[in-house]
Amino acid sequence: MTSPDDDPIEVSSPVCYAHEFEDYTRPPRLQSAELAAFLNVLLESERAGARVLARWCHEATPDAGVGPETLAAVRDDEARYCAGLTEHLQRLGAEPSHVTGRFYDKAMTISAWPDRLRFLDKGQSWVAREIRDKLPRIDDTALAAFLQEMLERHEHNLKLCAP
Ligand SMILES: [Fe+2]
Repeated sequence: MTSPDDDPIEVSSPVCYAHEFEDYTRPPRLQSAELAAFLNVLLESERAGARVLARWCHEATPDAGVGPETLAAVRDDEARYCAGLTEHLQRLGAEPSHVTGRFYDKAMTISAWPDRLRFLDKGQSWVAREIRDKLPRIDDTALAAFLQEMLERHEHNLKLCAP
C-alpha cells in the first residue's frame, strides 16, 4: 500500500513559455504621430500649469492651504517639463506646440483658494494618469525615463498641494 507521501516529488521547474507571449501581451507601442500628439498635449498642459502657478504663487493668501514658495517650486517643475517635452519632441523630429492648454483660461476664472487647489489637483492628476497610462507603450528609453520622473514629480507635487 502506498500513501500520497510516497509519490515522487517533481523537482524540476515547468518550462516557462512567457517569452513566447511577450509580444502578444504587451500593449501596442505608440506610433510616432500618436506619440507626438500625446507629448504635445502634455506640453500644452504643462505650459498652462506653469502660467497659472506663475500667477497664483504671487496671490497665495495665509489661508490658501499652500505657501507661495511651494507654488513657485511647482511652477518651476512645470516650466522644466515644458523645456524637456520640447527637447524630446524636437529630437523625435516632431514640431512642438506653442499652444497653452485650456486649463489656464479656466483657472483664471477661479478666485477662491480652496477651489484653486482643487482645480490644480484635478489638472495635475489628469497629467499623472495620462503618463501612467501611456508609459507602457513607449519604447524610447530616454523619453520613458523622462516621463517616469515627470510622473513621480507630479505625484509628489499632488501631495504638497493637496486641497
Ligand atoms: Fe503638471
